[in-house]
Amino acid sequence: MASRFPFPGLPSGWYVVALSEEVKRGQVVPRHYFDQELVVYRGADGVARIAEAYCPHMGAHLGRVGKVEGNVLRCGFHGFQYDGEGRCVATGYDDPPPSRARLRTWEAREQNGLILTWYGAGGEGYDWEVPVLDDADWNRIRWHRFDIATHPQETTENSVDFGHFTRVHGFVDGSITQPIELDGPLLTIAYRAHRPMPMPAMPLWKVPVDYAVKVWGLGYSQVDVRIDPLHLDLRVWVLPVPRDDEHIDLVIGASTKKGLGPLSTYTRRIAHKIVCKEVGEDLDIWTYKKYVERPPLAKGDGPVAIYRRYVKQFYPPFAGVDEAGDEATLKAAVGP
Ligand code: FES
Ligand SMILES: [Fe+2]
Repeated sequence: MASRFPFPGLPSGWYVVALSEEVKRGQVVPRHYFDQELVVYRGADGVARIAEAYCPHMGAHLGRVGKVEGNVLRCGFHGFQYDGEGRCVATGYDDPPPSRARLRTWEAREQNGLILTWYGAGGEGYDWEVPVLDDADWNRIRWHRFDIATHPQETTENSVDFGHFTRVHGFVDGSITQPIELDGPLLTIAYRAHRPMPMPAMPLWKVPVDYAVKVWGLGYSQVDVRIDPLHLDLRVWVLPVPRDDEHIDLVIGASTKKGLGPLSTYTRRIAHKIVCKEVGEDLDIWTYKKYVERPPLAKGDGPVAIYRRYVKQFYPPFAGVDEAGDEATLKAAVGP
């Protein structure tokens, strides 16, 4: 069966392989991401590290039989030990480590409660980073992980798919308050939409909600949400990480700004629930849709065509990109 996602593989970018809270000191956590077996582990020094799961000696799975000892990872099959750079620093015998016994390591960044790694689609290294957010004024983030049969390009496309906010999420009177802007790997756009709130014995209250969307590649989006009448500031994270070409984990986080006193915890819980509910509304669309290469876009769709040009930078150069067709799609979307 043809793939629903005719993309040239998985896009380069920073992806969340684990939450900080999931990897305690001395713990090894197995993960299957980018169609590879990985381990995330934390040494006695508190540093989170990421490596290929298969021991280069004779292939044991370090996520199953590996142990953290101090800051090294020790394989349970013959006792070879690997440091944070993947060098074999000891064997299980008195022999010196064989030079070819080298464990492949992955970049690891730990920030804002997340352990991120860089995936290079063409094997290339990173040349940009995801910013560390100042979280001093923010409550602890609540996280939830969804398991979805889709691709990160599809879920991230939703952030510019203006039309679906009304149909799928029930917002009304939406407008783009800051047009889409591309700056290398960063895409920004802002919206205002209204959430109808039925009030007892009162006319329908349409609560204005402002969204400032920042997308750093296809694995990391962060949305600042402001609900003025409630003086409420939220931060939302939307973090797809591909397990393989057709399946992702979608990690969703929500936090509220401190300063609401006892209401803080309550609003954080509610905000998290609302965000998860909204993702739930998209689930069937993502799970069953296919990617339409040249969609007959209408103006109300939002800047989908610009997004599709933006995403190309995350894939290695590939044959078949039709710039002329791309321009035509763009014109159809935004007008002459
Ligand atoms: S397979 Fe890991 S030490 Fe031999
Ligand atoms: Fe959506």
